[in-house]
Amino acid sequence: MVLYICEEDLIKFAKNQFHMSETAELKLGKSIYHLPILKGTENEKAIDIEKLREQTGFITLDSGFKNTGATKSAITFLDGEKGILKYRGYPIEQLADQSTFLEVAYLLIYGNLPTKAQIDEFHHQISRHTLVHEDMKKFFDGFPSKSHPMGQLSSLVCSLSSFYPESLNPHQTPEELDLTIIKLLGKMATIVSWIYKKSLGHPVIYPQNKYDYVTNFLYMTFGQRTEEVHIDPVLVSAMNKLLILHADHEQNCSTSTVRIVGSSDCNLYASISAGISALWGPLHGGANQSVIEMLEKIRNDGGDVDKWVLKAKDKNDPFRLMGFGHRVYKNFDPRAKIIKKACDDILSKLGIKDPVLEIAKKLEEVALSDAYFIEKKLYPNVDFYSGIIYRALGFPTEMFTVLFALGRLPGWIAQWKEMREQEEPIGRPRQIYIGENTRDYIPMHKR
Ligand code: ACO
Repeated sequence: MVLYICEEDLIKFAKNQFHMSETAELKLGKSIYHLPILKGTENEKAIDIEKLREQTGFITLDSGFKNTGATKSAITFLDGEKGILKYRGYPIEQLADQSTFLEVAYLLIYGNLPTKAQIDEFHHQISRHTLVHEDMKKFFDGFPSKSHPMGQLSSLVCSLSSFYPESLNPHQTPEELDLTIIKLLGKMATIVSWIYKKSLGHPVIYPQNKYDYVTNFLYMTFGQRTEEVHIDPVLVSAMNKLLILHADHEQNCSTSTVRIVGSSDCNLYASISAGISALWGPLHGGANQSVIEMLEKIRNDGGDVDKWVLKAKDKNDPFRLMGFGHRVYKNFDPRAKIIKKACDDILSKLGIKDPVLEIAKKLEEVALSDAYFIEKKLYPNVDFYSGIIYRALGFPTEMFTVLFALGRLPGWIAQWKEMREQEEPIGRPRQIYIGENTRDYIPMHKR
């Protein structure tokens, strides 16, 4: 089989026109098939194989979808080779530096930066929906105090669909859908802070709508019922940055999950709950928790960083350096660059001396100068530093992935909404069957 792409003939991309007049030629035996070539606004190229099976009887096989585009999307662009990340065309560096999480949420979900009036209204609407139904609190109370925060979060978000059954209608009007979205954004911060309070055995704090989104979240998380708390602006700024950096990352494991679950006409809350479950795994969002657990393990083992780097390089040892490597960033993770600086700033501003953080710094140094990591292009990813910052801010390790989910929420919503607006078909990959051929049933007494 030979696949030819007539690249030199690619015509210039015209706005909103993805199909090129050029085609790729696929030679299968004596037959030649012409497959449409698509090109995106940042010049990424794709071969459209939608009709391939119909025409040739062949499917394509790509486990882990390492080279498979599942959708056309106008939300996030990333270039893993060059280390570029943009939301709706805006570079992540500018957004992290100048924007707020709520503004970025609006941008991702509605496509453009809000005007002052639009962001005020957005905040006003969200503030009106920060309270969680008291009945929901009853079953929240039923979780054992040691249950993992991600299990609680996924269940609670899914259960919103029971409290707001109007969300079950897959044909909600845009206004109805907006309300479903606003409720989710409003309640998520409250739910996350309650999960934190529960882990401490402390009473939950109700939202105060005088605060902005992030301050309100920190107030519910670190505040107490009895006294007025001062939320440090350093903390608010760090939290805004962390949430912005996590807000979207195109078609990763959890986002693809959200889109594929939603493609069956499943409601927004259940789709996002599925995304939360996908994020939980240590190879995805759970890595930020695993980073600190790994650092603690190294510390408890005597702090010999070189020994653990050797283990990570040993093919016969399953140990990997958590927080290193990325599926798409093969030179550097632009989010890691921003967050590393924020991490250094916070540690010095808070004057934190923590042996685990010292090990993190040493590990970063050793791995970045080690030939194995350099050759394989394994660099610290966003989770390496976010775990360190969350620890410095006082969050328990098990909360880290929940905070990631809070940040990723607007991205998931935007991707789900886009999938619905584009009327994408139900997600249903194919397979190559490698099991037994037909065999006759053998009754139990003859086996
Ligand atoms: N430590 C040691 N070796 C590693 C690491 C690591 N963290 N990551 C990759 N490698 C090695 C692999 O063993 C493999 O070696 P080989 O070519 O000799 O077989 C090579 O580098 C390529 O690794 P893959 O697993 O094939 O790369 P892939 O792109 O599939 O995986 C992943 C990326 C899952 C992120 C991986 O680097 C990893 O497990 N990292 C640790 C977990 C982590 O930090 N995850 C967070 C990702 S970011 C996020 O989800 C927000």
